[in-house]
Amino acid sequence: MKIIMLGAPGAGKGTQAKRIAGKYNIPHISTGDIFRANIKNGTELGQKAKQYMDQGLLVPDELTCDLVMDRIQQDDCKNGFVLDGFPRTIPQAEALDEALKKIGQQMDYAIDVDVPDENIVNRMGGRRACLSCGATYHVEFNPTKEEGVCDACGAQTVLRDDDKPETVQKRLTVYHEQTQPLIEYYSKQGILKSVDGTQPMETVFDAIVGILGA
Ligand code: AP5
Repeated sequence: MKIIMLGAPGAGKGTQAKRIAGKYNIPHISTGDIFRANIKNGTELGQKAKQYMDQGLLVPDELTCDLVMDRIQQDDCKNGFVLDGFPRTIPQAEALDEALKKIGQQMDYAIDVDVPDENIVNRMGGRRACLSCGATYHVEFNPTKEEGVCDACGAQTVLRDDDKPETVQKRLTVYHEQTQPLIEYYSKQGILKSVDGTQPMETVFDAIVGILGA
């Protein structure tokens, strides 16, 4: 099963993608997590990506596409994968389709987690992220057991640099301009499914399982 998670920044793509990966036993591939790991490790890719991410801009397609194409050809992706944060532009979606076509495959589902902009800014201010293992929490909706400490790995949780309100506004603008057109792109392919992302996390997950099958 090959799944794309679509939605605005903070819509809950990552939260749901991790649960989908667990339930269906497929890898969760988050380009945001890959870039953040590279930033943490001080790689050249990380240094380049950070310049864009800190401004709320997209990392250029030429830095993004190849790394995803390499990742989805690894052995653990044989039975499928869930893409979180990729594609984000029409050229990225075309590159993905092209790469899969070469091996006689195609995406199965594009799931749009729909949340209006006004809900997003609130959510982002409350998000806390573990930069060590990638787990995400919310101070109100999904708190850690011990404040500021990741339940999964014990590292410190932080407010991401790009979750500050002015950067969130920029990310929303970029989303509407560059990523939202993908909804029509996948609708035309007949694989778009939409879920109401304003519902509690569990309800959103149940809706997704209703689409993918138990
Ligand atoms: P990325 O990490 O992908 O960020 P994003 O798409 O902006 O998405 P987020 O991770 O911010 O949010 P999410 O939808 O996963 O929400 P979450 O589940 O955490 O990318 C970061 C940056 O990297 C980009 O800005 C760009 O610069 C670069 N980048 C990445 N991919 C790229 C690409 N393909 N091309 C170019 N550049 C790229 O949930 C948010 C919060 O809400 C959490 O606190 C969560 O606990 C809470 N929450 C979730 N669901 C619910 C719910 N139902 N009810 C209440 N709270 C909820």
